[in-house]
Amino acid sequence: MTSLGVNIDHVAGVRQARMTNEPDPVQMASLAELGGADGITIHLREDRRHIQERDLVILRETIKTRLNLEMAATQEMLDLALKTKPDMITLVPEKREEITTEGGLDIVANKEKLKIFVDKIQSAGIPISLFVDPIFSQLEASSDISVRWVELHTGTYALSSWKNQALEFSKIKEGVIKARNLGLRVNAGHGLTYQNVEPIASIQGIEELNIGHTIISRALAIGLQEAVKEMKEIIRNPRQEPFFG
Ligand code: PXP
Repeated sequence: MTSLGVNIDHVAGVRQARMTNEPDPVQMASLAELGGADGITIHLREDRRHIQERDLVILRETIKTRLNLEMAATQEMLDLALKTKPDMITLVPEKREEITTEGGLDIVANKEKLKIFVDKIQSAGIPISLFVDPIFSQLEASSDISVRWVELHTGTYALSSWKNQALEFSKIKEGVIKARNLGLRVNAGHGLTYQNVEPIASIQGIEELNIGHTIISRALAIGLQEAVKEMKEIIRNPRQEPFFG
């Protein structure tokens, strides 16, 4: 059965919009686990726009499933990863100006540099996965640098028009077969929604889907009515003074 890694970056994004302490991704990770998440995924970005180091450190201590840390291949991230030892690292490309990760890593063009990075992480006993587009040359290059895992980028499929969706879907399906034939284990994710996930979930050979934005959006949709009700009840029926001390 395909497992589900829940990406909770967007919880942290809402918190950072106010620079306050709610909503707390640590609490939400625990709720996601209660809901059946098989793992929790966070992306600690260089600009710290959502997840903070504090989240990484506490989640490492508190989550009961698996912690997958998405990060760029930089010295700063390497030091943090070796210190906190997540259960899995997924290397992603990162640009400051992007709204979210825009595509897979170019393993072919950065093979030597990435091999050194991958070796350092693997020799610390941390499994590493590379976020790649379902392109054969990228999968072959991933296998050449001895990673055990890839995460196939589903964002192009997710954003494609209905005319191109079948084509983009078949690229992912063939990418899974290619990766498995190379001996790679396969995850997938990015841009998946309640509407477009089913064909991807039906592909044999994908072990885990990493899904974030649509789940956090749905949580708002199904939770907002209750949250307003609770606030209305407090306002309608406040306790009497004294409130403090
Ligand atoms: N996988 C990777 C490598 C990602 O960078 C992201 C976004 O952080 C996701 C999966 C989840 O994408 P989404 O939020 O669109 O579900």
